[in-house]
Amino acid sequence: MNDTFYVTTPIYYVNDKPHIGHSYTTILADVLSRYHRLLGEPTFFLTGTDEHGQKVQKAAVANKMTPIEQCDTTVVRFKELWKKLEITNDDFIRTTEPRHKNVVRKILQELFDKGEIYKAEYAGRYCTPCERFFQEKDLVDGELCPECKRPTDKIIESNYFFRMGKYQQWLIDHINSHPEFIQPDFRRNETLGFLRKPLEDLCISRPKSRLEWGIELPFDKNYVCYVWFDALINYITGVGYGQDDAKFAKWWPVSYHLIGKDILTTHTVYWPTMLKSMGVEQPKTIFAHGWWLIGSEKMSKTTGNVVNPMEMAEKYGVDAFRYFLMSEMSLGNDASFTEEIFVTRYNSNLANDLGNLLSRVVKMIGKEAGGIIPAPGAEMEHDKELRETVLDAVSAMEATLLGMKIDRGLEQVMTAIRAANRYMEKTAPWKLAKEKNTERLNTVLYTAAESLRIISGILSPVMPAKMCEIRKAIGITDNQIDINTLKMWGKLQPGLKVVDIGSLFPRIDVKGEAVKAAKSAETVAVAEDLITIDDFKKIKLQTAKVLEAEKVEGADKLLKLQIDVAGEKRQLIAGIAQFYKPEEVVGRTIVIVANLKPAKIRGVESRGMLLAAKDGKTLKLITVDGADFPTGCSVG
Ligand code: MSP
Repeated sequence: MNDTFYVTTPIYYVNDKPHIGHSYTTILADVLSRYHRLLGEPTFFLTGTDEHGQKVQKAAVANKMTPIEQCDTTVVRFKELWKKLEITNDDFIRTTEPRHKNVVRKILQELFDKGEIYKAEYAGRYCTPCERFFQEKDLVDGELCPECKRPTDKIIESNYFFRMGKYQQWLIDHINSHPEFIQPDFRRNETLGFLRKPLEDLCISRPKSRLEWGIELPFDKNYVCYVWFDALINYITGVGYGQDDAKFAKWWPVSYHLIGKDILTTHTVYWPTMLKSMGVEQPKTIFAHGWWLIGSEKMSKTTGNVVNPMEMAEKYGVDAFRYFLMSEMSLGNDASFTEEIFVTRYNSNLANDLGNLLSRVVKMIGKEAGGIIPAPGAEMEHDKELRETVLDAVSAMEATLLGMKIDRGLEQVMTAIRAANRYMEKTAPWKLAKEKNTERLNTVLYTAAESLRIISGILSPVMPAKMCEIRKAIGITDNQIDINTLKMWGKLQPGLKVVDIGSLFPRIDVKGEAVKAAKSAETVAVAEDLITIDDFKKIKLQTAKVLEAEKVEGADKLLKLQIDVAGEKRQLIAGIAQFYKPEEVVGRTIVIVANLKPAKIRGVESRGMLLAAKDGKTLKLITVDGADFPTGCSVG
């Protein structure tokens, strides 16, 4: 374990209000920070805003404000949102603050003095409407802007350049010798791919005649600094670089720079080479997550599908929103957001599973044990099973938080919650009460309440306020959670008084009547869609063994399986990559539709289809594992 944990989010542009993408990274950083604090590690969490450059200047003009007025107005939207979302950042850095600007100037001057920055004439094609430079080779029909297809102008401009190119080989070597430096692995390959072409020097200035809103270069007042060169430096100015050496030494190098996949090059090429030329140590890990798509569409203002996190939190609750984002996105891949997906997960995981467990345990203790957590008697098989499942979920959550696979940890906690609900049904405490079997009744009630103590503790980094409510409901008033007490069974004190806090996650009635109407129409359609036994017999279901599995390149959801069906080798493409790692399916005996017409999926041949059960957003393979079945057996 590290002795300190330092995590950052990108600093967000203040040209517009925050959207779901911004809230995702910030919540992720918050969950990691809360978890590392729970582990007892000194933790520093930095977020902030990127306030210079073209985008902000343009927004200011559109809003009839000065650039700083634009920043001051918009930064409030971010700060208010982080407060609403219970974000526990230790600092918030704005790039217009003197503590940042002064250090950026100092760095620029030092690099200029060392010859790491030089002036040169730059000839290129400039698109005035897009306000961007392009290289000749990227133009359409030799002269049109590749973005807006309008004519470009030839511009010869003097600018300042950072000698980025000379660090190319060093960077490739660093990436190769530090596999944890860029994560996930496929993003590392993306950067290495980018580095296969010669790395050019980076233009780090903009003439004031074109852009005024930026940090003035200390060695030439006719220029401002390129916004990325200024912005990346926030990660060190935010922890005292150039101002407070002890503070900087305490937190740097950063444990995680969390970023979205679109800003990979700036973070894994520009930033490391900048640090190298400054003589500053490299970040430990730069982790790029995927994007939130709206349904299957890119989110965009023009389409009008931008999700406002403030509205979501207000409508469905902050903790439910945090939980959804953490459980729905498998880190690294894209995920889909729609209110329907949200409500399905909410109703199933939070209302049905967790909310229901709390309410039945508290009610039962209220009714059958006078509202007091009873002392348990001897442990029996069902109790032991639940204890082990709950403690396993604690280890899984810990491992997946450290391994950046949070969605999987949460899935395992949900499995433990469902096990606790089943435990209540199997042990039937209401019957034990009727039979006056008090010792057994007490053990069951204690076991269920103790499960809730541990589950609420382990979920607290994701849903801090709601998990506090669970603790209150089972009589715990102290809100200091220590990870060690979550790994130990039996820490819940008998004698605590339970409190009925009402419904923790009230079920959401999805658009009431509209849904009911749709459902009844569906029932009729289903009734009319009945098939005969002969229809069914046309489908050949067979067992098959998975010999090999790998991801399909460029497709987040697909696994390519090599299977054995009664001695015949086949290849099958399955949309299960978000639920199973390749190594998790190898060796399993699955069920396939063997006589499906072969098809090409993303250009890869697939012969057959596997069966899996799907509930909203969880998926489980249908297998005959453990039964020692040969492959090729018929299923039906
Ligand atoms: N200011 C730069 C970052 C500088 S960091 C030194 C910037 N700002 S941004 O406001 O445009 O974007 C910030 C982050 O939002 C990026 O990580 C980007 O990936 C993320 N997202 C933007 N749209 C997104 C989704 N639809 N989904 C998830 N995150 C996305 O870039």
